[in-house]
Amino acid sequence: MSFLPHGYPHMGSMERPVMHSFVPVLEKWVKNLRPRRVWEWGPGRSTHVILNGLAEDAKLISIEHDEKWLAKIRDEIGDDFRWSYDQLSVTRRVSSYAHRILQEKEKYDLIFIDGRRRVECVVAALQAVHPQGVIILHDASRRAYTDLIKPLIEVNECILDTLVFRPKAVLHSA
Ligand SMILES: C[S@@+](CC[C@H](N)C(=O)[O-])C[C@H]1O[C@@H](n2cnc3c(N)ncnc32)[C@H](O)[C@@H]1O
Repeated sequence: MSFLPHGYPHMGSMERPVMHSFVPVLEKWVKNLRPRRVWEWGPGRSTHVILNGLAEDAKLISIEHDEKWLAKIRDEIGDDFRWSYDQLSVTRRVSSYAHRILQEKEKYDLIFIDGRRRVECVVAALQAVHPQGVIILHDASRRAYTDLIKPLIEVNECILDTLVFRPKAVLHSA
């Protein structure tokens, strides 16, 4: 399966992917995978989409760098025992933002990447995803992402600018 071209030279402005273009893809994978453990970088509309499809005893962890944005999402979600979150800085040279998932020593059935430091998050996610799980990257047509991650992944599908993938088989055994 090929990657998207960089940018959207073939589309008019009305057709270009929008901020929440990932929604149908994310809904589909939450429904089909029935994930028990989900990780997300960059909460927002995606958090609602995931929680809408999540079983009562499943868990979602969201990582956000911006205090005000996180407060807004917390207000929207209210009490939901399936959801926890962490606010982590992206200003340090070695960012805990991406590394945080590795500290949990869990494997995740679904990992959604839509925040900051996305290439770092992909590298961390490749190590934290369950062998039957998937990683979903939004805005995947950005050249800085595609050029760097392409050798590391096996693509399941790519719809508009939302890329669904797993680690290349050789990475699982490394
Ligand atoms: C692409 S957005 C995340 C979108 C999120 N996954 C969603 O579905 O809405 C990436 C970051 O932008 C920041 N942000 C600030 N204002 C925002 C806004 N009005 N909408 C979405 N994200 C915003 C947040 O820090 C967020 O983590």
